[in-house]
Amino acid sequence: MGYRRGARRLRATGLTSFTEYLALIERDAAEFEELVNALTTNLTAFFREAHHFATLGSLLQQQIVRGSITLWSAACSTGEEAYSMAITAVEALGDQATQVSILASDLDTRAIRAAELGVYAIDRVSALGDDRLKRFFLKGTGSKAGFVRVRPELRQLLRFRPMNLIAPDWPVRGPLDAIFCRNAMIYFDKPTQRRILERFQPLLHPQGLLFAGHSESFGHCADLFQSRGNTVYAPARTGARE
Ligand SMILES: C[S@@+](CC[C@H](N)C(=O)[O-])C[C@H]1O[C@@H](n2cnc3c(N)ncnc32)[C@H](O)[C@@H]1O
Repeated sequence: MGYRRGARRLRATGLTSFTEYLALIERDAAEFEELVNALTTNLTAFFREAHHFATLGSLLQQQIVRGSITLWSAACSTGEEAYSMAITAVEALGDQATQVSILASDLDTRAIRAAELGVYAIDRVSALGDDRLKRFFLKGTGSKAGFVRVRPELRQLLRFRPMNLIAPDWPVRGPLDAIFCRNAMIYFDKPTQRRILERFQPLLHPQGLLFAGHSESFGHCADLFQSRGNTVYAPARTGARE
């Protein structure tokens, strides 16, 4: 799959050999970005792995007593996960959801721009049901028929940033109440996963939770995160690391 996507970029640039293409991405940052965007897999959906959002709702009700809540969707793709977190916040907290702030980031710059726009084909949201559709989305008309846009009241809970989880610096400040990093760690080897988990752990509030994808498991980092079942993890107490 990576080969086919790389070959497509090669053709798009008019070059004929991978050697020439490698030289191009060395000197052309824009083409490097195009290649990264082409290689990422952005498959996602609103309320994907719905049980995670039920857990998040309970966590939010417990954490709101601290006054404000910060959440991170660390591989948000085109935004469906982050907006599902925001919808969960409004449904769990009502008016107090204004105290929730959600950082949504992804490596893929095109995906993050789509996330920021918050416009989706209607078939992407139809499973949410009429009530949620009316409450959280505006229906397009005329040339926008067939599309919905996230309502500004919901949109204002979120901010979007391009961010590489493998980069040495993340512009993220703790304490975070939840990190959703789902279906991205699967692309990394175990040492890379560990380095990322070592950086997630101190960012999380002691009562906070890390949500992983359905086929991701961090049993090899039990000193950092303890499983709560259903690919939800709690930060291990610092003492357990010594
Ligand atoms: C399959 S999507 C998952 C989206 C969403 N989290 C979900 O579970 O529905 C994987 C996302 O991980 C992102 N990704 C891959 N490598 C990354 C990295 N090094 N840093 C940040 N995001 C990355 C991809 O761009 C893609 O949008």
